[in-house]
Amino acid sequence: MKKTHPIRELMNEEGLTSLSVSHDWRTGRVCWRAGYEWDGSMPWSAYQKTFTFESCLAESPRFYGHEAVLEMFRARGIEPVREKIEELLKAGRHQGIDFYRESSLDITFMNNMHANILGIKNGRHAIRAGGIRRHPLSDPELEVIVDGLNLARAMSFKNAAAEIPFGGCKCTVHSEEIPLTDLARLGFLAYCLDRSRFFTGPDMGFLPELSDVFHDHFTDNITGGKKGPLGPTGTPTAYGVYLAIKAAAEFRYGDAHLRGKKVLVQGLGAVGFPLTELLIKKERCSLMVSDVDETVVKRLLDAFPEADITVVSPEAVLDTPAEIFAPCAMGGIISEAEIPRLQYDIIFGSANNVLAAHSQEEEIALAKRLAARGILYQVEWVHNIAGVMAGYEEYTRGKEADRKRLYAHIERVCGEGVLRNLKEAGRLGMTPTEYAYRKIESRIYPDLTPSPEMVR
Ligand code: NAI
Ligand code: PHE
Repeated sequence: MKKTHPIRELMNEEGLTSLSVSHDWRTGRVCWRAGYEWDGSMPWSAYQKTFTFESCLAESPRFYGHEAVLEMFRARGIEPVREKIEELLKAGRHQGIDFYRESSLDITFMNNMHANILGIKNGRHAIRAGGIRRHPLSDPELEVIVDGLNLARAMSFKNAAAEIPFGGCKCTVHSEEIPLTDLARLGFLAYCLDRSRFFTGPDMGFLPELSDVFHDHFTDNITGGKKGPLGPTGTPTAYGVYLAIKAAAEFRYGDAHLRGKKVLVQGLGAVGFPLTELLIKKERCSLMVSDVDETVVKRLLDAFPEADITVVSPEAVLDTPAEIFAPCAMGGIISEAEIPRLQYDIIFGSANNVLAAHSQEEEIALAKRLAARGILYQVEWVHNIAGVMAGYEEYTRGKEADRKRLYAHIERVCGEGVLRNLKEAGRLGMTPTEYAYRKIESRIYPDLTPSPEMVR
């Protein structure tokens, strides 16, 4: 794995537990640091019992500054890896990445930080919010880094669009599957989470029960558990996406009702499944569904034997015509190459980063290509945000979290807010993606001059 996992190898060989890169997008400055902060025999399952995230955990801790870390990359001939990471941070205007590694468990925790401005004065332990996602060790490290950085950038915009006082980040964990009984690995993750000052919720590769185990043993900086006051975040996210699809239909067809419309849902997981339930129960549309996991497809068909549901094979999704396509699985599925063959009126789903882009500029360019094909699309961070809204409600109010208040918040932002975004973008002759970026970016990058048409 030397070639595909260069950071893992570097940290293993240098005996590093921590490696961090920070970037200041205003000056372009990049700073690397590293450390040996705990000994290999750490009893991670005892996190919060015998030690906390502030404890001194090594007999002889060591720390390395910028030049020493650069030399580590040079000595291994992996400078291109460092350069690539720096290039990605610059392209996305990110703040940096903190890597924590426990080599005895072969697990790496990456906190991909995009922005903190909305959170620095919120008076809480967490100043950023973003999900926690696991990638199997077979995924090349660079893919994990790219995914984490893209998701972190989306989280900054998501949190601003959701009107919550937190910056954006995303945590990616590079590890084999972690059973919920594996308190050593989970204790390590909880330690890293608390140290990183964000609140989180389980994303792909982790189950909602992760939150329950964390609460029982380690930390409250996680939300969306089955035992939590609002339950898993997939259900509110599905409701927000459902409202956004209806707003898109109203904008596109002059009628928010979806009866008779063909809606194709890719992915029947925590979000896709409750979304299809809403579409069946409330809209009676003609559903097409696709999932690589046949058991979830069967579960849907068994739950709604009378509904109009067609199953589409995963490979055929992008060639299947439909009025509305709701991607609710992985991101990065639409690049320049796919656009000419898409036969949809509307693309609105939950999947993060549907467009294969590494920066806001690339994303806006692809959104324009979709618009030129007559497809109504808006970057999903405008509407797949009810998960983090639920997380916010739970994180800030604990047991007092209120479903009614949450659902009113979702209706305001994902229903009325989305329709407003579409109409305003139309009025200004922009794609909804570009308009949404222009509107929110001055809150995240206050030093950027807003374009004149946005100053109103
Ligand atoms: P999940 O892991 O529960 O479900 C994903 C589903 O997609 C699974 O059933 C999986 O089998 C299926 N799938 C994977 N590859 C596929 C393929 N090639 N074709 C068809 N189906 C495929 O994930 P979840 O939570 O439902 O999230 C879905 C998307 O929505 C992700 O991109 C996630 O980041 C995003 N999202 C989720 C939120 C949440 O609250 N759960 C909040 C906002 C965004
Ligand atoms: N995972 C959610 C998303 O991708 C965000 C989230 C963050 C949910 C924090 C709960 C808590 O939008």
